[in-house]
Amino acid sequence: MIGRLNHVAIAVPDLKAGLAIYANLLGAKVSEPQALPEHGVTVVFVELPNTKIELLEVLGENSPIAPFLERSPAGGIHHICYEVEDVIAARDKLLKEGARVLGDGDPKTGAHGNPVVFLHPKDFCGTLVELEQV
Ligand code: CO
Repeated sequence: MIGRLNHVAIAVPDLKAGLAIYANLLGAKVSEPQALPEHGVTVVFVELPNTKIELLEVLGENSPIAPFLERSPAGGIHHICYEVEDVIAARDKLLKEGARVLGDGDPKTGAHGNPVVFLHPKDFCGTLVELEQV
């Protein structure tokens, strides 16, 4: 069902510092920081030959990554995103199998403008999983 690894999202306490690590130390191609207020994050996209890394910094009051950074102040891997052809069909299959989908279960528009859902880490090897329809 799942296809390519679309991205790995890393929550960081300081986006400028994270950007510098990826751009300078690791020599990756990075975007300018982009504020995504509807997602509660500012993001830097790191382009790798085979996938993307997204560096996420808290933006605003109710950022979904704020609790994560409270537990892991140095930052860390927040979620991984797999591509699916049909996010509704994927969600329905997983719900039928007893897996939990976060929120109201309806796909939201993700950082790339595509519909996404998030799956409960306890059902997926302790990892928050995003499914993105591509
Ligand atoms: Co993501």
